[in-house]
Amino acid sequence: MSSEKPDLRNGVPLDNIPDGSRLLGAVGEEEVLLVRHGKDFFAVGAHCTHYHGPLAEGLVIEDEVRCPWHHACFSLRTGEALRAPALDPIQCWRVEQADNKVFVREKLPPADSTPIANANRPSSILIVGGGASGLVAADMLRRKGYNGPVTMISADSAPPCDRPNLSKDYLAGTAQDEWIPLRPPDWYSERKINLVLNTRAAVLDTKQKKVFTEDGKTYDYDALLLAAGADPVKVPLAGASPSQVFYLRSFADSKAIIRKAASAKQVVVVGASFVGLEVSASLRARNIAVHVVAPDKVPMEKILGPQLGASVRSFHESHNVVFHLGETVKRVDADKVALTGGQTIQADFIVLGVGVRPSLALAEQGGLKMDRGILVDEYLQTSAPGVFAAGDAARWPDPHSGETIRVEHWVVAERQGQTAAKNMLGARERFEAVPFFWSQHYDIPINYVGHAEKWDSVHVDGDIGKKDCTVTYKRNGRTLAVATIFRDLESLLAEAAMEKQIRNP
Ligand SMILES: Cc1cc2nc3c(=O)[nH]c(=O)nc-3n(C[C@H](O)[C@H](O)[C@H](O)COP(=O)(O)OP(=O)(O)OC[C@H]3O[C@@H](n4cnc5c(N)ncnc54)[C@H](O)[C@@H]3O)c2cc1C
Ligand code: FES
Repeated sequence: MSSEKPDLRNGVPLDNIPDGSRLLGAVGEEEVLLVRHGKDFFAVGAHCTHYHGPLAEGLVIEDEVRCPWHHACFSLRTGEALRAPALDPIQCWRVEQADNKVFVREKLPPADSTPIANANRPSSILIVGGGASGLVAADMLRRKGYNGPVTMISADSAPPCDRPNLSKDYLAGTAQDEWIPLRPPDWYSERKINLVLNTRAAVLDTKQKKVFTEDGKTYDYDALLLAAGADPVKVPLAGASPSQVFYLRSFADSKAIIRKAASAKQVVVVGASFVGLEVSASLRARNIAVHVVAPDKVPMEKILGPQLGASVRSFHESHNVVFHLGETVKRVDADKVALTGGQTIQADFIVLGVGVRPSLALAEQGGLKMDRGILVDEYLQTSAPGVFAAGDAARWPDPHSGETIRVEHWVVAERQGQTAAKNMLGARERFEAVPFFWSQHYDIPINYVGHAEKWDSVHVDGDIGKKDCTVTYKRNGRTLAVATIFRDLESLLAEAAMEKQIRNP
């Protein structure tokens, strides 16, 4: 508790906090992190504004601190959330040195982000997509001082939401409805962000700079962000009725599964994907028997490799999830699901988690350059002037792998939204963030930095079974990606090392 920690108002001898170190203390009831960087001392709130991660266990790089859980980054000078997934600042306190001691004084008011000065700012900005990248782009536009009109069109019925939570705590019943929207309704009105829900953009005219929606409306833009994400791949199951089959992408989808789960005893999850397995874990938390059916021999082997994939399977088996691997669904007959291997499983309902397909229709129709996604340059600009793309639908030149890549990760989508927003305002910032994602299975978090589609060696340090490991994926001796379980600092260090490689190839 904070009462057991040193009260930083009483002063800390300078010798107790050498250069580069940090000290977790308190100011009254609040936990405060005191950090020394050279001659500077910073006192900031000790918890990340994303999910309350412990910043004292994070990584300090110069005057920034990175959260150990999902790698948000904060300025120690101003508290600003510099990199998603945190969007809100941490509190800063004034620090004073006297008598060879450092004292934490009063709270400082929140500092404004440095605006981007550019005479050629767009006269209006349109964002297509109300998800991770769209919301964060709107947030960054306002933070950077853009005060022109911002409109966000979303096909969703709900405002931008914390999508990763939908398969985890929310589905498990441990997160409340109020936690799911990324921002409350008045956030949009206060910032004059025109959020248009239940509206699908259907036609893009890049010459006239107009977007036409399915409901017959026209939206003009000066700069446009395409942030339409991805849709679940739909697989027809012979004999299944639509009321038996569920997909999970939106808040409404998650609620529908919860409603169905209320009277269910057993479910079949088709697909050993991240979403499929997270859904399995959450339904186990609701005491529903879960059978996973997937063609793979090892869950997620293509992404995590054979060792970690096999361990993910055993984490789930230890919670009594039954796997039917190397199989698919042959037919559904009422509540009986027949598998290609001959077995029949009883299921009150079926959840399909077999991957997603990027939403490309608008970009294709608008004549943008495509390559298994919307092709963007290092500034996230598409082939059409003034049109940017971010998130699951965008393929960008990744400086770390040297390839153009497209990923489906929350933090990447948000960081791309941030960079695209700044570039719409003329910042000319390259998107160089090392890809990061996390996945949660019961109490086991997997953190993954980098990007490895093909590797020639996988090295496991530690013990995956004991949930204490670092798994390194290499090609030609070069580290492409690193996955960790309960080694958060190693994950942060791996990210920093990859960033360094980008700067000094
Ligand atoms: C259940 C679930 C759990 C996940 N968990 C994790 C996780 O733990 N870690 C992780 O890294 N990633 C996770 N992801 C992936 C992550 O959510 C995505 O990578 C991220 O949301 C992509 O952001 P985006 O902005 O590209 O798209 P989205 O967040 O999907 O937003 C796209 C938006 O565009 C709208 N839209 C689509 N077409 C149109 C159109 N034509 N007109 C108007 N609007 C349109 C959609 O309605 C939606 O509002 C998860 C995804 C799901 C579904
Ligand atoms: S809790 Fe800090 S980034 Fe998620």
